[in-house]
Amino acid sequence: MQMTGKTLIILKPDAIQRSLAGEIISRLEKKGLKIVAMKMVLLSREKAEKLYDIHRDKKFFNDLVNYITSGPVIAMIVEGNDVINVVRKLMGKTNGAEAEPGTIRGDYSTSIEKNLIHGSDSEESFKREMPVFFSESEFINYQKIDESWIK
Ligand code: RTP
Ligand code: MG
Repeated sequence: MQMTGKTLIILKPDAIQRSLAGEIISRLEKKGLKIVAMKMVLLSREKAEKLYDIHRDKKFFNDLVNYITSGPVIAMIVEGNDVINVVRKLMGKTNGAEAEPGTIRGDYSTSIEKNLIHGSDSEESFKREMPVFFSESEFINYQKIDESWIK
């Protein structure tokens, strides 16, 4: 049995605008991941800057904050075996033009910025990013009927 962990996923404004939220959530569900929290949010500039604090010195920082605050996002906490790595693989490379077909970005994006989805890249990033959207009391503890077949 592998270790179950948690990650933060954000369906970015382009995913909502292009009506791809259901498609992306469906891929996460079919992979066997478990959604334990989910909400739609219009991020304030302050929260967006906190989320992307590690990119503060990059030349794309201002564009990135404009983009992520340009429309609603869907934030989710997702649970599963080795979930941080699993989700990063499902997402594909940052630049949609380079991401492999079969990945979310590889199938639906050609952009380095408008790349549909965010997933925490480490446990440390998860701990830093999660409180921008959730408090732990919002995580829902429940069993799915097929869980014992996945874990
Ligand atoms: P994310 O944080 O969104 O999961 O994506 P990532 O790890 O694959 O990419 P990262 O290097 O952390 O960059 C964060 C987000 O910034 C935008 N970006 N724009 N214009 C540019 O050169 C550029 N580079 C990155 C993307 O939206 C990327 O996901
Ligand atoms: Mg990142």
